[in-house]
Amino acid sequence: MANMLERTVPRYTSYPTAPNFSAAVDAEVYRTWLAGLPGEAALSLYLHVPFCRELCHYCGCHTKATLRDEPIEAYAQRLVEEIAIVAGHAGARKVTHIHWGGGTPSILDADLLKFVADEIAHRFDLSAIREHAIELDPRHLTRPLTQALRDIGVNRASLGVQDFSAHVQQAAGRIQPFDTVKNAFGMLYDAGIDRINIDLMYGLPKQTVSDVRRTAALAHELKPQRVAVFGYAHVPWFRPQQQLIEQSDLPSSPERLAQAEAAHESLVQFGYRPIGLDHYAKPDDQLVAKGGRLQRNFQGYTDDDADALVGLGASAISRLPQGFAQNAPAVGNYSRAIAEGKLATVKGIALSNDDRLRGRIIERLMCDMAVDLDAIADEAGFDIATGFSDELDALQPYQENGSVLIDGHRIRITEKGRPYMRLVASVFDTYLTRAKSRHSVAV
Ligand SMILES: C[S@@+](CC[C@H](N)C(=O)[O-])C[C@H]1O[C@@H](n2cnc3c(N)ncnc32)[C@H](O)[C@@H]1O
Ligand code: SF4
Repeated sequence: MANMLERTVPRYTSYPTAPNFSAAVDAEVYRTWLAGLPGEAALSLYLHVPFCRELCHYCGCHTKATLRDEPIEAYAQRLVEEIAIVAGHAGARKVTHIHWGGGTPSILDADLLKFVADEIAHRFDLSAIREHAIELDPRHLTRPLTQALRDIGVNRASLGVQDFSAHVQQAAGRIQPFDTVKNAFGMLYDAGIDRINIDLMYGLPKQTVSDVRRTAALAHELKPQRVAVFGYAHVPWFRPQQQLIEQSDLPSSPERLAQAEAAHESLVQFGYRPIGLDHYAKPDDQLVAKGGRLQRNFQGYTDDDADALVGLGASAISRLPQGFAQNAPAVGNYSRAIAEGKLATVKGIALSNDDRLRGRIIERLMCDMAVDLDAIADEAGFDIATGFSDELDALQPYQENGSVLIDGHRIRITEKGRPYMRLVASVFDTYLTRAKSRHSVAV
């Protein structure tokens, strides 16, 4: 089965996935979608900040390096303008979730973060806010910054760690001693931010199973509430700085699988519960309690049940009831549209009934590792008594190797089948066979 794991498949943070977006959804289409939001709809805001002080070799995120402050100040100004433009079109005001992602959103510094956050508070109703989260680079965290995070209402932070071993950090182009991360925890706790997540990775250059075990043990010492364990996606044709990583330093597919299993075993032994593809949470965490209501969005696994996700910033993707809409990926194009007072949407996809049905099936498989096709079809008002026979046939190899159990129209991915989750979900993706885009390997 190892060759199966070398197949490239999407991570299904959306369905249809972003490579299937087209220019058919432009600023005007998105404007009508925003206007159509019912007044009582709950919104989740995602703010993308595509800047870092330097680029880590492995990085697959949409970001660029800048040592100068001017582009960052100009970008914060554009974000503020975009918030006003979007609020001017949107039929809804109530925001229940805010997530700052990147890049490194805290590169905005205390004043710029407050500048942007004040505009959100001015344009939207934050009285029912449930979660306000931010992605942070522990190497650039300071006390004034953590105090500013508390002041703007941040109540969850995720810290990029990846691996604690010096030789892996060297090969991956990111030097970050354990004490740097420990100090970041201390500063966040002192500011009253105690919901802390850690991001780890496997499949990094020069990384071994023992590095993964050691990293998981050190992470556990810090007692994060959640741990994400991402498989390194090597896409050098898409992220040129990854060419700095020696292909020969990368673990093989069976080694990656062993590393993913080692991370899983260690974290489960430390008392974390596995959530879907790549998340682990303490048993009392709301992600564990959510059970079948867990959702998947562009940030991974969430209990965010807002009616619409509004993406702000370059490359940000919005999910509205009608479909997905994405802002211009390049900061220059995004900034020009916003400076002219326009929405920066350049592509997206309007959802068909088939997309909605398949999207729900894929989301349940990725969140619960199980789906009842009849129940999903009932909810969506479809009759699938004769449908999905091709998909069920395509799942036979997974059933034969013990990764999947099929009972009529009920599908369950077994614990052994966890690494195959993306491949199993991909059986329901009708765009995949048509798509020419390249994704990362399945494990
Ligand atoms: C936006 S970064 C986190 C915040 C901050 N920029 C930092 O690195 O500390 C989001 C996370 O994506 C993950 N990531 C980055 N590049 C990746 C890649 N090529 N494959 C898989 N995961 C990746 C890392 O775990 C990283 O912490
Ligand atoms: S991993 Fe984080 S800090 Fe490193 S380049 Fe990517 S976004 Fe920036």
